[in-house]
This record gives sequence, C-alpha cells and structure tokens, in this order.
Amino acid sequence: MPPISAFIFDLDGVITDTAEYHYLAWQRLADEEGLPFSREDNEHLRGVSRRDSLLRLLKGRTLPEDTFEAWMKRKNDYYLGHLEQLTPADRLPGVTRFLEEAAAAGLKLGIGSASKNAHQVIARLGLAATFAVIGDGYAVAHSKPAPDLFIWVAGGLQVPVEEAVVFEDAAAGVDAARAAGCRTVGLGRAGIDHADLVLPDLATIPVAAVLAHFAARTTTHG
Ligand code: BG6
Ligand code: MG
Repeated sequence: MPPISAFIFDLDGVITDTAEYHYLAWQRLADEEGLPFSREDNEHLRGVSRRDSLLRLLKGRTLPEDTFEAWMKRKNDYYLGHLEQLTPADRLPGVTRFLEEAAAAGLKLGIGSASKNAHQVIARLGLAATFAVIGDGYAVAHSKPAPDLFIWVAGGLQVPVEEAVVFEDAAAGVDAARAAGCRTVGLGRAGIDHADLVLPDLATIPVAAVLAHFAARTTTHG
C-alpha cells in the first residue's frame, strides 16, 4: 500500500462555491437565446467544461462554430463579472484550516480544475502561493471525466498517481480521478458515492483522519 504524498483539489465546489456564478452566467445567456435552463440543469454542469456545458444546454441543437464560440465568450464575460466579487472570505468552510494542516503534514498540494479561470479564482481567494501545481482548463486536451488532468497534476507534483488523493464534488471529477488511478474523496453532493471516502465537506475532518482512512485500506478502490 503506497503512502499518501499529495492532495489534489478540484476548485469549483471544493475550495470555493462558484457554481452559483456559473449558474447566473448560463441563465443569462439561456434567457437571451431562448434556451430552457434551470438551477437543476446547472447541477449537472458541475465539473463539466465550458464547451461541454454549452453542448448540454443546446440539447442536440447545432450552431455554426463562430456562433458557438461567441456564446461561450458571452457566458464567460458574465461569469468574469461575478468573479470580481470573490474574496478570501469565499473559501468554503474548513478550507483554510485543512490546507494548512495538509501543508504542515508535508503533503504536496495541487489543483485539478476544468476551469480556464482557475488561476484567477485562486488568486482572488488569496491562495496563489498554496498550490505547487495548478492544472486548469488549458492543461490537457481531454477534460473530466477523462483521467488526463489528474495524471498531469500528479506528474507536475512528481508523485505516482496512487499516492495522490483527489478531492471532488462532481461525478465527472470522481470518474476522472478513479480513471487516473488516484484515491478519491467525494464531497457533499449526490453523484459522488463512488468515491473511496464520502464526506459532507472539509469543515470538520482533520487531515490526519483522511490519511488514517487511506492508510487502513488494502486496495485502491476496494
Ligand atoms: C468547472 C465547473 O470547475 O469548470 C464547471 O464546475 C465549469 O461548472 C467548468 O463549466 C469550466 O469553467 P470555465 O471557467 O472554464 O468556464
Ligand atoms: Mg467541482
């Protein structure tokens, strides 16, 4: 059983809750273009790339590529407007303490996010110096649920994938981390029951308890 030497965090929904901003931006675009869209639809876009999100909004309708890209840009401009409100106070409960404990335990820390805005979000949260490697929506060609992003981040951290624990709030992210060969912690929501360990959030769990959980296991996903 390899030891745990790195923690890799999804960003949106794990470190901060930007899902509401994504929702407001998609809703505005959808209203402008007459596309049916709801908060519930937005829940299915967690962890899903911008392009794949718009494909889901279109529900099979096709657009010329230049129109498709213009709509993605418009949504992103609305999203960036909301990001201007983001401050370190928007870290989710327990995140600051959990990251401090993880660093003190000597773990390498990385981010694996589908977002092309990840660097900006991390900077606004005051966490730019916390993560040794940030894998974002530009890092790899195939986004979650493909394993590529977490393999890329583990490689950057110079740890074998099986020594990395991935923290995710989305089914697509847990799928990606499992496919990469990482251990998984699912946080909070429905759809992450296939993670090795499922927790409501990071608010109360000590880093030592996560490490003890994985130290006690004899197989990666068993
Ligand atoms: C993920 C979010 O982190 O990033 C998704 O959960 C979002 O909702 C995706 O679509 C891509 O984000 P961005 O910032 O590149 O549009
Ligand atoms: Mg997420």
